[in-house]
Amino acid sequence: MMLKDSSALVRDLFENNRLSISAGLERDGYFILRNEEVSALVHAARGEYLSALDGLEINAQKSRFNRADLSHQPWRKMAIGATNGVGEPYAQFLTSTYFSESTPKFFAINVLFGVLLGLRDILFNLTDKDALSGTWNACRIHHYPRGGGFMSMHKDTHFPKVLGTTGMPFLQVSACMSRRGIDFQNGGGFVVDKLGNKVDLESYGAIVMFDGNQPHGVDCIDLDVVPDIRSKSGRLAAFTNIYEILD
Ligand SMILES: [Fe+2]
Repeated sequence: MMLKDSSALVRDLFENNRLSISAGLERDGYFILRNEEVSALVHAARGEYLSALDGLEINAQKSRFNRADLSHQPWRKMAIGATNGVGEPYAQFLTSTYFSESTPKFFAINVLFGVLLGLRDILFNLTDKDALSGTWNACRIHHYPRGGGFMSMHKDTHFPKVLGTTGMPFLQVSACMSRRGIDFQNGGGFVVDKLGNKVDLESYGAIVMFDGNQPHGVDCIDLDVVPDIRSKSGRLAAFTNIYEILD
């Protein structure tokens, strides 16, 4: 696959979809953007992630990483229990692998994160980079194992606080990187829309955007098996949240 530069792809996506994106977000609190190029990109990024897994140690929930090291290689950790350290606690069971915005050897992953970040910035008209000073983009892939991977329903109360000074409304821009029916069978990501309906967010290859103030979570993945945290199966999603720089 020829990887287009992420900014060219973002421009196309925005120009062709901006009205439906803003209408969807306003009306429903979420929007699922499907596009052939993005879908091929997500598929390639998934392949890169799965090939890298065997070489990645899984670090404990409480271990910390140095952000500068991410530009050499990704870093994987458990995200387990109900004390996740950012905002109000909510229970979860998954691994989270952090990438820099240009991790060597991860061509498709870099472009995918570039697209998610580019879309976020263009949707918020974030041309003034000073607005984001003191924050960093936590680019990561969430991996929910079969056998009980989940994230309990919650609202994102922490990130809006981080963004309070920027005047930016809150939006999650993620990519759905696994297929229900193949990589896992039951459970998956959801958001409760503005009418109170629980909406399934599983759409392989799509960019999934939702208002973090709407309740959302991940229903238990395949409770009929025993979890294997190192398995390549399970549910995958890419996220690019804004975190405060604390160090
Ligand atoms: Fe959340």
